[in-house]
Amino acid sequence: MQTNVILIGFMGTGKSAVGRFAAHRLGFQFLDTDALIVEREGMEISQIFALRGEEYFRDLETRVLESLTHYQRCVFSTGGGLVLREQNRALLRELGFVVLLTAREDVIFDRVTRTSKRPLLRTENPQDTIAHMLAERQPIYESAAQCIIDTSDLSRDAVGEAVIAKAREAFGW
Ligand code: S3P
Repeated sequence: MQTNVILIGFMGTGKSAVGRFAAHRLGFQFLDTDALIVEREGMEISQIFALRGEEYFRDLETRVLESLTHYQRCVFSTGGGLVLREQNRALLRELGFVVLLTAREDVIFDRVTRTSKRPLLRTENPQDTIAHMLAERQPIYESAAQCIIDTSDLSRDAVGEAVIAKAREAFGW
């Protein structure tokens, strides 16, 4: 297994904030697949969805993952839908230790409604949308993960420490 840590999970589970913290503590580089896409396309995620559609965005996610296969000593945070493609799940397994961050539905709702940057949640009833998406995705997230951390009642730092502890165990450090 390559020495990278990959954070997967639904929107609002803290992947980016936790990833940045854990990378800093481990002395690893931090990379966020959404940020890489925005940088490469020169467009915000919501613009990509609006102008090119979701399938196009999913292709970009696969391309970004493929470009990361030679990286070592990184913490990657990934977009919430990246694991939906089997091809991407296979790429993640090669890339390193995959940690799933979860949170209760109400916690996710509170966290994501603080910003409006998620195109998939711009619906009439975001709470319902979250519930449906979570039900559909949870088994996929779990099948892609080597360990699961519930972030609902934990601070960013506490989740980061838990990620590091699990990674140390997995890598045998
Ligand atoms: C998505 C999650 C978003 C972003 C895009 C689609 C999803 O990332 O990739 O809006 O399908 O769950 P975050 O999980 O970082 O919000």
